[in-house]
Amino acid sequence: MHRVADSRSDEGLKTSTWGGETEVVCYPTELELVVSSRISSNAKSAEAKKPVAKPVPAKKASSKVGSPVKTGVSKRSGVGPKVGRLKSLATQGAGSSGKIGRESQRKTKTSSFGVSRREGHDASDFYARFPELKQDESGLPSPPSDINQIYVGDARDMSNIADNSVALVVTSPPYYAGKAYELERGSGGIPASYVEYLQMLHDVFTECWRVLEPGGRIAINIANLGRRPYRSLSADVTRILQDDIGYLLRGEILWIKAEGASGSCAWGSFQSAANPVLRDVTERVVLASKLRLDRALTRKQRKELGLPSEDTISKEDFMESTLDTWKVRPESAKRVGHPAPFPIELPRRLIELLSYRNDLVLDPFMGAGSTALAAQRTGRNYVGYEMDRSYVDLSLARLAGELAL
Ligand SMILES: C[S@@+](CC[C@H](N)C(=O)[O-])C[C@H]1O[C@@H](n2cnc3c(N)ncnc32)[C@H](O)[C@@H]1O
Repeated sequence: MHRVADSRSDEGLKTSTWGGETEVVCYPTELELVVSSRISSNAKSAEAKKPVAKPVPAKKASSKVGSPVKTGVSKRSGVGPKVGRLKSLATQGAGSSGKIGRESQRKTKTSSFGVSRREGHDASDFYARFPELKQDESGLPSPPSDINQIYVGDARDMSNIADNSVALVVTSPPYYAGKAYELERGSGGIPASYVEYLQMLHDVFTECWRVLEPGGRIAINIANLGRRPYRSLSADVTRILQDDIGYLLRGEILWIKAEGASGSCAWGSFQSAANPVLRDVTERVVLASKLRLDRALTRKQRKELGLPSEDTISKEDFMESTLDTWKVRPESAKRVGHPAPFPIELPRRLIELLSYRNDLVLDPFMGAGSTALAAQRTGRNYVGYEMDRSYVDLSLARLAGELAL
């Protein structure tokens, strides 16, 4: 929820009150304006009128901790291979008008690049080039069915979780890069082809859509793949979220792991233009929202209804976390006992930036439980799925270990 102010400098910060919410704001960059677009005067595109692909509800129940591991893929009629289908050029949700929330049409101001103080420039022409942003303004969050549980099961079917009950998804999907957890499960664990892998991600993110409340957010950490040729998994995930399912993109964080963090010396042709190769020191976190960019109810309305409404983020963290490059040291696989854990600091930052205290945070690929630990540390509730029982046990041990401190 950006408002207009002067610059990113301290004196550019202002408070503004709108719809009962008081916020400190600073002037957004051009890129941020895309995210904040509650704008657009005349964008009348036929694309904007098309309905967004409707997520199909899950059918089967997954096993809870302690029950048999379920590794089969749920059969979901009507969900065909949608991967690769380009549905629209810009963000759109399944817009419908409702009574809760504010008007989404609002002019935004900026100025051209290279001007130190950005004043008086009307950006509506910029947004008019895109389909009109339609933010759904109906729908209330549902009470969670189960909290602080990790289910042993396949996240393509998360029927233990109620529709519209999750505030935030934070996750890191399997990489499709031959990690131990993929190899150990053999053909049952690794999708046979990259297209099948993307279909699996599509199905899980569709389930996430079902369980997210209106205005709920999803943050997906991904590493890009390969060099011969390079495969931009973040581009594929972005397309699945935006074009196939209909999420509204909020932005993309470049997670800088450390100089030379990959430990790779695969330069290609060293000191020669013959065929040099880029080495990874970053991963991406793609951020998106279901149906609308803000939460479906204001903090005041949430408080009155007894719903989570308390922010916990500090000013310093907020200033840092709203930049799109994050420097966070990677976690050691050996120390955690999982081949691909992310550092708890990553979900911790996402959780404090994007959710309120006591909100429900879901990780459909729970691994060693880093998201759950971050949720526990920040006073949120968690729920998750993980196919491998031994990692569920590891997560539970880590969670209990911290509680015992
Ligand atoms: C990249 S790891 C997640 C690591 C986690 N973020 C952490 O910090 O520990 C992905 C996890 O997803 C699990 N997984 C793979 N496919 C799954 C599926 N369809 N449903 C649930 N879990 C799955 C793998 O066993 C693996 O532990």
